[in-house]
Formats: sequence, structure tokens, C-alpha cells
Amino acid sequence: MTNTTPRKRLFIRTWGCQMNVYDSARMADVLAPVGYAPAEAPEGADMVILNTCHIREKATEKLFSELGRLREAKAARRAEGGEMVLAVAGCVAQAEGAEITARAPWVDIVLGPQTYHRLPEMVARASRAAGAVIETDFPAEDKFDHLPEAVAPQGVTAFLTVQEGCDKFCSFCVVPYTRGAEFSRPVVQVLAEARRLVAAGAREVTLLGQNVNAWHGEGPDGRDWGLGRLLRALAEIPGLLRLRYTTSHPRDVDDDLVAAHRDLPQLMPFLHLPVQSGSDRVLAAMNRGHTAADFLRTVDRLRAARPDLALSSDFIAGHPGETAPDFEQTMDLVRRVGFAGAFSFKYSARPGTPAAGAPFQVSEADKDARLQALQALLRDQQDAFNRSRVGMTFPVLFTGPGRHPGQVVGRTPWLQPLHLTGPLSLVGTEASVTVLATHPNSLSGLLAAGAASQTVQPEEEPAPA
Ligand code: 5AD
Ligand code: SF4
Repeated sequence: MTNTTPRKRLFIRTWGCQMNVYDSARMADVLAPVGYAPAEAPEGADMVILNTCHIREKATEKLFSELGRLREAKAARRAEGGEMVLAVAGCVAQAEGAEITARAPWVDIVLGPQTYHRLPEMVARASRAAGAVIETDFPAEDKFDHLPEAVAPQGVTAFLTVQEGCDKFCSFCVVPYTRGAEFSRPVVQVLAEARRLVAAGAREVTLLGQNVNAWHGEGPDGRDWGLGRLLRALAEIPGLLRLRYTTSHPRDVDDDLVAAHRDLPQLMPFLHLPVQSGSDRVLAAMNRGHTAADFLRTVDRLRAARPDLALSSDFIAGHPGETAPDFEQTMDLVRRVGFAGAFSFKYSARPGTPAAGAPFQVSEADKDARLQALQALLRDQQDAFNRSRVGMTFPVLFTGPGRHPGQVVGRTPWLQPLHLTGPLSLVGTEASVTVLATHPNSLSGLLAAGAASQTVQPEEEPAPA
């Protein structure tokens, strides 16, 4: 597209999950054709977007303190004779809507996660209108149909949203309210975007969705495909060396997905599978729809299919009604599974969710103590997993230069960062590495003797489907 608009500076601040990181990149894509180029800082920018997360505590306070600072930046911009369009996006925007512009009237645009494709129009309206523009509808189909196909290159590792929203209504979670009902992108759209990413240099693609393994869609064969079938189709794209998907729900791990872990060498042996608790009583109160035994069986099925599979998970300490024996069952489950990594959180009441109003809220002191015990155990398991890689030889996908001169960094199959001394020509290739040592947040290694890096010719950029 030719573009005669003078370049304007766009600063996006992103909080929260990978979905928000992906959404921020797409907002930048949508605004590029109307003249916005990325800026490093909000000061002096023509547009600032705060892409917010509502999943845990203090999101709203964080947003308002940032908005306080931006009020000054906006005034300074005006004093220079410029304008700064200020937008609040993401899940806090969806949840709070007009509340935001009531408390911070200097905000120009409030937009929910399903309306990003309409940003250029909103910017135009905001500069004409007296009041703020608020768009918090839920038409997910619409958004994906209208996002531009030309994407800024994401690099060697790229994200691709295949699914959004959630119908599971866990007692503690805001996602079904902020992201809306489950929606899957059509197969052809996903395959076309994956091909474009590979043509732009991606060698690893992570499929994203709040409930990614609930993804389903009609395939070119007219059948309803699940995530396993989609992964098989993606594995056929030349140049696409690695596939991952996140975040999964234990209830939606079907046999075909398990078989994909067995059959596809491209599908990396690392899976994030949140369990939240090891107590059946708490799992029922959370409305998770599975028991601890169900989860353990799912782990067994996956490990039988892919013996080198490592797992990470999410845990909540102190959900309403959780007793000390319930918490012990969570610790037991962690000991039985052995996780390579995990995220764990203190329960935080989210307004409007069922658990927020439930009786038997756990005291802060108990939540703190449980979280500490859980995190200590999970940290030990993560350290043990990292140490277990020392001496092993496996392929590493190199993603960029390292922190020190002469170093390159990459990712192991288990998503651990790994650095070694080697040429920059390794970037974008997979090569066999022997691990020498573990460090606090990474591994280091040596190119294995005779390791030939695998360079792949990607397909030509395909015509739009
Ligand atoms: N309190 C604490 N943790 C939460 N999570 C989601 N909602 C809450 C909440 N209200 C955690 C869950 C989820 C992860 C993304 O965030 O563990 O899997
Ligand atoms: Fe939230 Fe539960 Fe849906 Fe995950 S499955 S997004 S925790 S409601």
C-alpha cells in the first residue's frame, strides 16, 4: 500500500499474557497503513495504547496510575503543538468500559479485545468527537476477518492466535466475561497466516488461545478438525521446524491431540497444562470439570505418547473454601507429576466472578504461607529438571545474538533459553547442542561435534486465500 501520511509515533504498553502481546502486535499492524510507526517511549508519541490485563489483582490501580502519568505527557505534547491520542485496550477496558473515561476523562478511546480492527476509524472519530470513543462489542469473527494480512515480522519464534474466549466459567476467572465466548479461527485462515509467518522468517510457531485445545474448525475435507488435526496440517509447511500451543485445558486433551504428540516431531515435548489445584473438593468449587485423578491420567496418556514430554502448569493457592488438607493434596499432585516449570498465584477475588462472593475466603496469611511452600517445591522441581539436561545433546533453535559478544541464544525443545559461543549465522537454524551447565535463568552448551545446522528454504509467500 502506498502511503503519503507523515509518520506518526505509536507507543504500546502491554501487560499480561501472550495473547495481549500478540494483540499489541496486531494493533501496530492495523495502524501502520495509516502512518503510525513504533516509538520507544510514551513521551512525545502521537498515540499511546495501554493494553491491559484483568486476570489478577491491582490491574485497575496500575492502569489509573499509568493514566495519571500519561495525562502529563499528553499536556506536554499539546504544549509542543502536537496531540497524543490515548487509548485503553484489553481486558480492563472490556470490564470497566465507561468507568475509565469517567475517572480519566483525558482518555480518548476505550476498546475491548474484539474491536482492534476498527482502530483507525476510532482514531479518526476520536480526533473529531468531543467525548471519548468506547467500543467493547464481542464480534470475534469480525475482528479476524478484518485484521490486515501484512504482518510485521515477528522473528524466528512467532505467535499465532487460533482461538479466543472461553465458555468454561471457572469460579475465579474473568476471561469468559472479558474475552467472551469461545471462538475458533477457520482452518484456511490459520494455515495462510502460518505460511506468511514462515515466509517472514519464523521457524517456530506457538498457537495461542485462552482455551487453545478447544479449537475446532471445518477442514478443507469438510470434516470438523480438532487441534491435533490442525497441528498435522501445520507440520506439513516446509520450513516450519517447531510447533507449540498454549494454553490448554485438561478437559480438552482428546486422543487425536495425544496422538499428535506421538506422531509429530515438530510438536515440541513441552506442554503448559494448568491444573490449579490437587484437591477434588476445590476443583469442583472452581468448576474445573475434572478431578485430580483425571489430570494424572491425562499426564500419563501424554507421557506414554511422548516420553520426553515435560509439563508446566498454573496453580492457585487459597481459593475460597481451600483447607490445609486440600492444599496438601495440591502439594501431593505436584510431587507425583514433577513439573519442569509452573506459575502459581495467590487467589485474588475478581469482582463479578462467582468465587469473589463465596463464603470461607482464606486469610491472607494462609494464602501467603501456602504460596511460599508451593513455590519452593515448584522451584526445586524446575532446578532438578534443568540440571537433568546437563550432558544431554539435543536440537536448539537459535533466535538471536546473546548478551555477550560472540554469543548466540536459542531455545531448547523444553523452552529453556540456551546460550553458547557461536556464529550469528546460526540464528534461524536448528543445531545439535550438548548442554554444559545450568544458570539461574538459562542453560549453556557447545555445538555438538559434527552438528550441521539445518537451513531450510521457506515456501514462497502464498497468494491470499
Ligand atoms: N486469582 C488468582 N489466580 C488467577 N488466575 C486466573 N484468575 C485468577 C484469580 N482470580 C490464574 C490461573 C490461570 C492463570 C492464567 O492465572 O492459574 O490459569
Ligand atoms: Fe479462565 Fe477457566 Fe476459561 Fe481458563 S478455562 S480462561 S481459567 S474460565
